[in-house]
Amino acid sequence: MTTATRIDWTREHCRLLKGVRDEFATTRPFEGLTIGTGIHIEAKTVALLTTLRAGGAEVVAAGNLNSTQPAAVEALRAEGVTVIGEQTKDEREHGHYQRELLTTRPDLILDNGGDLFARYLDDPYVGLKGGTEETTSGRMRLKPLRDRLRRPILVINDSPIKQFAENQHAVGQSTLESLLRLTNRVTNGERVTVVGYGACGRGVADNFRGAHAKVSVVEVDPVTRLRAHLDGFDTPPRDVALSTADVIITVTGARGVITVKDLPLLKNGVVLANAGHFPVEIDADGLLTSPEVKTIREYEDDLATLELRDGRRVHLVARGHMVNLAGPRALGNSIESMDLGFALQARCLQAVATGQVDSASCVVPVPAEIDAQVANAYLADRYQ
Ligand SMILES: NC(=O)c1ccc[n+]([C@@H]2O[C@H](COP(=O)([O-])OP(=O)(O)OC[C@H]3O[C@@H](n4cnc5c(N)ncnc54)[C@H](O)[C@@H]3O)[C@@H](O)[C@H]2O)c1
Repeated sequence: MTTATRIDWTREHCRLLKGVRDEFATTRPFEGLTIGTGIHIEAKTVALLTTLRAGGAEVVAAGNLNSTQPAAVEALRAEGVTVIGEQTKDEREHGHYQRELLTTRPDLILDNGGDLFARYLDDPYVGLKGGTEETTSGRMRLKPLRDRLRRPILVINDSPIKQFAENQHAVGQSTLESLLRLTNRVTNGERVTVVGYGACGRGVADNFRGAHAKVSVVEVDPVTRLRAHLDGFDTPPRDVALSTADVIITVTGARGVITVKDLPLLKNGVVLANAGHFPVEIDADGLLTSPEVKTIREYEDDLATLELRDGRRVHLVARGHMVNLAGPRALGNSIESMDLGFALQARCLQAVATGQVDSASCVVPVPAEIDAQVANAYLADRYQ
């Protein structure tokens, strides 16, 4: 018998990346290039970044707020990836890591939330070919900067594969799994309000409905709200949804979705969690420092209870950081969903590195032929 780690298990099941890695080891599309990455550093990321290494790249990685996992850092360093920084919730410290990464002047950037490209514009250098952006939040941030970025940047989030495989199916599953793991509280019969009904919100709402919760949706866009209604969810006015909820989950990509102004509305015992990318959807700092709050009890596993002056209690998960990558043994989205998204990442970086896309492709979706290539690879051995 031999023993192996979770990272070994994850790499073993990143089937698509394994295929890409074998190919890249021969074709070496990144020979002589440095790739700077700002993606969450967890087990699946090891599979992606070592694939880029196999393609000849020097890889320099800094994580995202709160989600960097020490075992993944160790595994990456063992394979020659330079990892800057460590797990932190401190935005200034995180910004410092990102600036340090950019001093290596990467030829390609793999961004997650638009931070690296935005910081590049603060202090541009010669030689940046372009790169990729992983998220909805990053696309929203980078689109207005197109005129200044002027290089190919492919948005993985806007691939239909990423939309349905990760955002819809995987985020819903992992948000449910994480909330159960962290709180160990029942979902059956509870009123769960999902704020935001984009791809991620649809999956979150579906998964909590599947876990026998009574799910309502709050959505600012009337057409999307209609969609939630026709999908069978309650879509009451925001005030009604917030004041009746036992659990509120934000997943909008927007800032200040739940703030201190909402405190008077919240039901005693409500659990607040965020599944959106940035820890800005629930204004955790505002809530924690509100004069309405009498005491705060911090539990292990990143749970906090705020006792209000009127006796109500509000529970806050992971201080509003992304719930599915928070707390102990955070697994994030399923391996297969990330394998699909990361295969898109590897293929898109290859396209930028080898000049298959030009500056007209600045903050645009993944090219359709790459989507087709990845979909075919995923299905290739299903019916053998
Ligand atoms: N947790 C994860 O693993 C994970 C994975 C992928 C994406 N994300 C993040 O989840 C967030 C949502 O992603 P998406 O792909 O569903 O985005 P999306 O743009 O498809 O949907 C967001 C929805 O929220 C609505 N909305 C915006 N502000 C609102 C508000 N104040 N109140 C109610 N509704 C509001 C919008 O109208 C839209 O329908 C983003 O931050 C994204 O980066 C997280």
